[in-house]
Amino acid sequence: MRILVTGGAGYIGSHTCVLLLEAGHEVVIVDDFSNSKPEAVRRIGELAGRGAELAEVDLLDRASLDDAVAEAGPEAVVHFAGLKAVGESVAQPLRYYRTNVAGTLNLLEALAPTGCRTVVFSSSATVYGPEPQLPLKEDAPTSATNPYGWSKFMIEQILADLHAADDSWAIATLRYFNPVGAHPSGRIGEDPQGIPNNLLPFVSQVAVGRREKLSVFGDDYDTPDGTGVRDYLHVVDLAAGHLAALHRLVEVGGHHVWNLGTGQGRSVFEVIAAFERATGVPIPYEVTDRRPGDIAASYADPTKANQELGWTADHTLDAICADAWRWQSQNPEGYPD
Ligand code: UFG
Repeated sequence: MRILVTGGAGYIGSHTCVLLLEAGHEVVIVDDFSNSKPEAVRRIGELAGRGAELAEVDLLDRASLDDAVAEAGPEAVVHFAGLKAVGESVAQPLRYYRTNVAGTLNLLEALAPTGCRTVVFSSSATVYGPEPQLPLKEDAPTSATNPYGWSKFMIEQILADLHAADDSWAIATLRYFNPVGAHPSGRIGEDPQGIPNNLLPFVSQVAVGRREKLSVFGDDYDTPDGTGVRDYLHVVDLAAGHLAALHRLVEVGGHHVWNLGTGQGRSVFEVIAAFERATGVPIPYEVTDRRPGDIAASYADPTKANQELGWTADHTLDAICADAWRWQSQNPEGYPD
């Protein structure tokens, strides 16, 4: 198939593009490089042995987007492009709603005249809100606590309404838990700009000497060791989930929501120990106050994706840490400009 991938140069997008190309699909990346580098696109081609096409376009530039979509002539779209920092979204709500929600509307309106009606959307377990009932199933109530989360919530609703109005749209909403790790080659991985918000990139940067020590945000949660518990899944497993969802959508159509997670919760202390085990590098840390907005625990019930997609997230936390470390140690400053 010919597949348009928005945000294809980003962390999850780049890993998904490699798998799509390896599966024989043609890939057209739409990316404005606002939080990614052209080098990622070059390395996608290097890994897959075959390049992706590139349209350097901002989803908010409606005229350029219409042209790029018409020229690409996709049969399906995987939509990653968006802003994703929770704290930043609280400070800049309008920017988040415009980029994420209006960007998605532009994309859907650009697709409408082309006849392409198959969309896989990058959502987040953050839509399960502040007091999740664990393990999380897809039919759990949804809400949000910050503009980033609300933007995902709103886009999910827009996609559901679109399918309800016209069931020729085939829609998969994928709710990710915590994507971590990197391609086993060490050639592509997560390249956060500035101070990393997320645990694994921060731990990796401490290990490589870019940061002095990790702050553990609270050890007084109601969890077995008091630190936050999350469902960490390998980014290559997550990428494979997109292919499985896409193939299923093409077979059966419809509107689907699938959790993509391992089903296992791991604490911050467990992640530190696994990283030290996988790398032999000690991680200095101090326990600090809780981070505002954090919840004690979140992990998936991935049964629906396991059964309907034949997909599971198989990589262990140790394999995740080893792959994260290969990427970080071979690319200590991330991608070159
Ligand atoms: N943590 C630390 N120190 C850090 C960073 C994180 O102790 O420097 C802890 C957090 O308190 C949490 C765990 O590590 O317990 C994981 O934190 P992340 O920031 O890596 O992940 P979150 O689960 O908080 O965030 C993820 C996604 C967001 C999404 C959010 C809510 O990255 O996009 O889940 O579901 F909004």
